[in-house]
Amino acid sequence: MNALHELKEKFRPIISTYVESDAGQIDVMLGMIRPAGDPKHGDFQANFAMPLGKRAGKPPRDVAQTIVDQADLSAICQNVEIAGPGFINLKLDDDWIKQNLKAALADEKLAVASVAAPRNYIVDYSSPNVAKPMHVGHIRSTVIGDALTRVLNFVGHQAKSDNHLGDWGTQFGMILYGYKHFRDQATFDADPIAELSRLYRLVRKLIDYHGSKAKLPELKSALAELETQLADLKKQQSGTEEKAALKKIKKEVSQVGKRVTDAKEKLEKATTSISSVEGGELAPVAAEHPDIGTAVLLETSKLHAGDTENRDLWTEFLPVCKQDMQTIYDRLSVAFDMELGESFYNDMLGTIVDELEAKGYARQSDGAMCVFLDDFETPMIVRKKDGAFLYSTTDLATIKYRMENFDADACLYVVDHRQHEHFEKLFAVAKMWGYDEAELKHVSFGTVMGKDGKPFQTRSGDTVGLAGLLNEAEKRAGEIAKELNEGISADQLAENARVVGIGSLKYADLSQNRSSDYTFDYEKMLALKGNTAAYLQYGYARVQGILRKVEVDPVPLRSQPVDFEFATDVERALAVQLLRFEEALSDVLIDYKPNLLCNYLFDLGQTFFKFYDQCSLKDTESETLKSSRVQLCDLTARTIKTGLSLLNIGVLDKM
Ligand code: ARG
Repeated sequence: MNALHELKEKFRPIISTYVESDAGQIDVMLGMIRPAGDPKHGDFQANFAMPLGKRAGKPPRDVAQTIVDQADLSAICQNVEIAGPGFINLKLDDDWIKQNLKAALADEKLAVASVAAPRNYIVDYSSPNVAKPMHVGHIRSTVIGDALTRVLNFVGHQAKSDNHLGDWGTQFGMILYGYKHFRDQATFDADPIAELSRLYRLVRKLIDYHGSKAKLPELKSALAELETQLADLKKQQSGTEEKAALKKIKKEVSQVGKRVTDAKEKLEKATTSISSVEGGELAPVAAEHPDIGTAVLLETSKLHAGDTENRDLWTEFLPVCKQDMQTIYDRLSVAFDMELGESFYNDMLGTIVDELEAKGYARQSDGAMCVFLDDFETPMIVRKKDGAFLYSTTDLATIKYRMENFDADACLYVVDHRQHEHFEKLFAVAKMWGYDEAELKHVSFGTVMGKDGKPFQTRSGDTVGLAGLLNEAEKRAGEIAKELNEGISADQLAENARVVGIGSLKYADLSQNRSSDYTFDYEKMLALKGNTAAYLQYGYARVQGILRKVEVDPVPLRSQPVDFEFATDVERALAVQLLRFEEALSDVLIDYKPNLLCNYLFDLGQTFFKFYDQCSLKDTESETLKSSRVQLCDLTARTIKTGLSLLNIGVLDKM
């Protein structure tokens, strides 16, 4: 049940006569019906009479009145009022609310209706590059993708998750090279995961070292040039008085200033990478492997070309790497419908490039096969000069495969915002190629930042590993659980720490607008107050506590409820908020934003705690009022539990 949706449908036919059935305009107008900011004005407010009045050349109040007279709102609203210049204030009918609460109470799915037009979705998320340790960035893709898949399925779509593993790229060249030159056989036999990630890090470090050394002169001269430019500009600035000219110079100073900072950072990174090797025990190793960068690429292309030794090693390494990731997925309780990594598409790539060429979409340029696109400066390369295929080629194969095998209506790619251009190009090529009906959407997200305002890193400048993050969140949640209840058993403590720790970590991420960067902060994410998982889990546990205390079993009331009573405003407010669950889910899916579900749950939590403060369940005037309140509590807890489960976050009966 979605009150907002029902109100919109009541107004739709009438609005359509004002905007000549222009579907776009109708939706814009209907979008002006919103939850009221102030409960004094009712539950919803419609503001479309102002623009419609302007269009029709009539006073908006008159337009509002005519529309209200025509709309048949009596079943839903008990009060419709026109205020100010033409706002329409809508107050839901109490009987209507009560009837819908009963329906929600009786239904597993809380009376959330299935969508009218279910679609087949593929949600591509997590998708780490295998062989590299997973880091903090992967948590974003994983939890956002997981939540979206759950919400889609809950409202009746068919969503399948696909972990598009990077199991075929350069990082395998790195561990192949590392294994061949630097492996410690004993460690590998005892703990292959640890040894492979050591090898990955070692090779990465050596490549960075040589790369930095080669780039150093260029970086230095670029910085020097920018610094001279900046000094000149500053001189000019001090000699300029005319306002417009001064403004222009100031702008340039700030722009060049930024570039100087960037250049300094790059140089600093390079010098750090160099000094971390030079003078240390790695120095002779680096000297022995001067061409490691090229050699790694060679290992990768040998793997792709079917070289037996490399293929065999790949076959041996892949399960080891996957097992490592699996421990993280298990801890996050994340499972995928499919794990079709890049390697799965390898055999299809040649055919795809041939097809693109035959259809005239791709052509040779400087020896490479490229697709040129109108709106982009650079083409999409689908086969390199040396014959190698690219990330883009695999992604094209993936689209074809998903369309042909799953009849996908939509593919969501939950990937870091830095891949924006890749996806823009990919979708443009897919469209040209004939896959123009499906919705292809880059569900992009920002960076996880540290409290220092820089991308979240360890003290040594490495990206933060996911396993360590989960451990720390659990540890801290455990400490809080111990403080909250002294006599807690060890098992209970471990369970609490897991549910609250991991849940809070996920929620901290999900509650942010995905497009923004967010700051990673253990204290904030685990706080019992504020928009956190712990706050909602606490609300859930409170309800369980109350129900234990009043000794009323809510279960029989679900199918045989008493009539709801609203003895106070806050009971009615809680009821209205409970009925907005479906609206929140449908909001999530407009632009694939799980934070809108978090916002809803947080509002629900706040309304519930107000109710909890003001409404006793023990000393009620009547037994029916008591039962009515028990029903509100039960529905609140179930809505929190269901809402959190759609974010793949658990609840506890006691906290
Ligand atoms: N493996 C890629 C990376 O870590 C992400 C893959 C995203 N999915 C895709 N179909 N391109 O950057």
